[in-house]
Amino acid sequence: MNDIKLLFEPRSIAVVGASKDPKKIGHTFIKNILASGYAGKLYPINPAGGDVLGLQAYPDINAIDGAVDMVCTTIPARFVYDSVKACADRGVKYNVIITSGFSEIGDIATERKIADYAASRGMRVVGPNVFGVYSAEARMDATFGPGGIMPGSVAIVTQSGALGLAMIGKSKVENIGLSAIVSIGNKCDIDEADLLEYLTDQERTRVILMYIEGIKDGDRFIEAVKKATKKKPVVVIKSGRSERGAVAAASHTGSLAGSDEIIDAILRQNGVIRADTIQQAFDWCKYLGNSPAPTGDQAVIITNGGGIGVMATDACEKYDIELYDDGKKLKEMFSPVTPSFGSTKNPIDITGGAAGAEYNSALSVALDAKEIGASIALYCETSTFLAADLEKVLEQNHNSYELKKKPLLFAIVGGEDIENAIVKLGRKNVPVFGDVDEAVACLGKLYWYHRYLRYHSELYEDAAVPVAAITEICTNAIKQDRYFLLAHEAQKIMDLVGIPVPKSYIARNLDEAITCAEKCGYPVVMKVVSRDIIHKSDAGGVALDLEDRNEVIDAYQAIMQSCRAYKHDAKIEGVEIAEMLKKEVETIIGARRDQTFGPVIMFGLGGIYVEVMKDVAFRALPLSRREILNMIKETRSYPLLLGVRGEEQKDIDAVIAVIIKLGALISKCPAISDIEINPLMVYEQNKGAKAVDVRILLAKDERSTT
Ligand code: ACO
Repeated sequence: MNDIKLLFEPRSIAVVGASKDPKKIGHTFIKNILASGYAGKLYPINPAGGDVLGLQAYPDINAIDGAVDMVCTTIPARFVYDSVKACADRGVKYNVIITSGFSEIGDIATERKIADYAASRGMRVVGPNVFGVYSAEARMDATFGPGGIMPGSVAIVTQSGALGLAMIGKSKVENIGLSAIVSIGNKCDIDEADLLEYLTDQERTRVILMYIEGIKDGDRFIEAVKKATKKKPVVVIKSGRSERGAVAAASHTGSLAGSDEIIDAILRQNGVIRADTIQQAFDWCKYLGNSPAPTGDQAVIITNGGGIGVMATDACEKYDIELYDDGKKLKEMFSPVTPSFGSTKNPIDITGGAAGAEYNSALSVALDAKEIGASIALYCETSTFLAADLEKVLEQNHNSYELKKKPLLFAIVGGEDIENAIVKLGRKNVPVFGDVDEAVACLGKLYWYHRYLRYHSELYEDAAVPVAAITEICTNAIKQDRYFLLAHEAQKIMDLVGIPVPKSYIARNLDEAITCAEKCGYPVVMKVVSRDIIHKSDAGGVALDLEDRNEVIDAYQAIMQSCRAYKHDAKIEGVEIAEMLKKEVETIIGARRDQTFGPVIMFGLGGIYVEVMKDVAFRALPLSRREILNMIKETRSYPLLLGVRGEEQKDIDAVIAVIIKLGALISKCPAISDIEINPLMVYEQNKGAKAVDVRILLAKDERSTT
C-alpha cells in the first residue's frame, strides 16, 4: 500500500493532457502547480510534445526518466483507461483523475475497470470527477481552481468538486488559510477515511472540514473519524438523505431510523461537529482552529446592553454553555469595574456609557478569574465608544486572552462602522461576529468538542450473551421458513440475556388458557400466537385487563373470531397469557444492524404513539454508560423518567441495563437483524423495568446462523 503522504507531498507530478491552450484544464494544472511554488519535478504530458509554460512536454508517461509519484489525468473519458493502465504499469503511486463522465453518468463499468487495473498494480486513484489536490505542506496547487490559495491550518475534504472550488474562493474572503483541499468525487478507490488518515497526523492541519453526501464504508469511516477527533476538531457538512433507512420498515426502529438520523447520531457520538450551512462550517473551523481550550466549565458575558445580554444568555442555553453564577463572587469581582446602576449578575452589564476603558477593566477581571473559563463580550453601538477605538480595544483584549490561553469572543452590533470593524478584525483572526448567536455557537462548539475529548476514552459497556442457545432458537425458526420469532421465543431470548419480561404462558386451547391465567394471577393479558399475524392489535388479537375466568373465556372466543376474519388462512398456534402490568412510563428500545454502520441502538418514548411522536435518539454501538445516558437525555420525554408533578423518579438504571443487554445481543448474534421492545415499562426507582412486547426479526442471510 502506498504511503498516503505521497498524495499530499509527491516528489514528482506528471499532468496527462497538459496543453498549451490556456483555456484547457490541463493547462491550468501546470499554471497552478508552477504558481504555487511546488519544488518537486513537474512533467507535462502531451502527445504533440513541444513545451507547456516553459516546461518540456513528454509524449507519454514512459518517456519520463525518473519516478513519478503522482499523475493528474486531464484527458477526455474515452482515453482515460489506457492512460491509467500505462501509468500503473510505469509504477505511478497516485493517479488523480479529473475527468468526468464515469459512474456519475452511469458508466460504472469503465470506472470499475480503471479502479481494478490500478489496484492490480498497486496504484491508488483519487476520483474520477475531481478538481485535484492542494497541499500547503508541498506548496502544491494541483487543482484547476482560481489559484492563490492562502496556506493555513484548515484541511477541506469534499465530495462535491464544484462546492470545493467555491470553498477555495470563500476561504480567501473569510481569511481562512488552508493546509489542504481535496475532492474525492466518485470515490472509486480513495475515500474520506484514507484522507483522514493523513490529515489526522499532519501537524499543519488544526481543523478538518468535510463535505459529505453519502458514506460507503461506515465502519472504516467511523474508525478514521474517531481517530481524527481525538487529535483535532472535525466539522462536517452532511447533505443528502439515503433511502436505506426505509429498508427495515418491518419494525419501528427501521422506520424511525432514517439513515440521516443515524449518521447524525454517529457523527456526534464520535466527536464530529455537524454544521448545517457553509457559513457555520467556516465560522466554526476558523474559530476552533485558532482558539485555546476553555480554562473552566463556566463562561461569563460582558455587555453594554441588557437586551443583547439576554439574547446571549438564551444562546448559551441553546449551545449548552454554562454561565458562572456565584452571585457573591461575581459581585466581589465585578463591582469595582461596573457602575452602580449596572449589574454584576452574569451577564455583567457595564451599561451603555461603557467605552474602551470600561471594557478593558471588565475583560481583564474575567481574564484573571480562575472561576471563569471563557468570556463573551457584547457591544451595541453607542456614541460614547467610537468604532476606531473599538477596533483597538477588541484587538488588544484578544491578544491578552490569547497570551493567557483563555477563549474570548465578541459580538458587536451596529451600523456601517461596526460592519467594517468586523471585516477588518476578522482579517486579523480576532473572533468578532455581527450576531450574538453566531458568536455563542462558536464557543458552544468549542465547549462541546473539549467535553468530548474529556469523556471519549471512557470504557464501553458489555454484557454476557449465551450466543449458542440464542442462535439455536433463530435457526429453528428459519428452518420453518420464518424470519421473525414468536412471542415466546423472543421472551426466551430476553430470559437468556437477563431482560425482565412479564410472567407469561402459552395456551393451545381454551382450557389451557384458563389454567394459565390462574397460574399467572389476575388481571391478565391475552394475545394471539400466530406466525401469520405480526400486527396483533390490527387483527383484534389482543385483549387486556381480563379480571376473571369468564372474561378469559369471552376474550379467547373473540380473539379467535377476529383473527380468522382478519386472515382466514392464518395458522393460529394458540394464545399467550401474560400478567397485566401496571401502567408506568412506556419507553421503546430498538436495536438493529445498519447496513452502513453496523449495530445501532434506539431509545425513545414508547407505546402506540411512537411513530407519531418520533421522540427517539440513536447511537452506534459500542457505548459507554455516559453516552447511553446522553442518548436517554436527548429525548424530549426524558423529564417523564425524572418524574413529573411530584411523581417519583423512574428506574433509569434499569433502562440503561436493558440498553446494554440489547446492545450486546445485537452485536454478538448475527442471526438477529432487528430487536424491538415496545413498550419497555419503566417503574419507579429500584423497581426495575419490564419488556412487555418484544419483536425480533432474523437476518435473511443464511450464513449468519451458521
Ligand atoms: N495523453 C496525453 N495527452 C492527451 C491524451 C493522452 N492520452 N489524449 C489527449 N491528450 C491531450 C489533447 O491533445 C489535449 O491537448 P492539446 O490542447 O494540446 O490538443 C489535452 O490532452 C486535453 O484534451 P482535450 O481533448 O482537449 O480535452 P479537454 O481539455 O477539452 O477536456 C477534460 C478534458 C477536462 C478532462 C474533460 O474531458 C472533462 O472531463 N471535463 C470535466 C472536468 C470536471 O469538471 N471534473 C470534475 C471536477 S469537480 C467539479 O465539479 C468542478
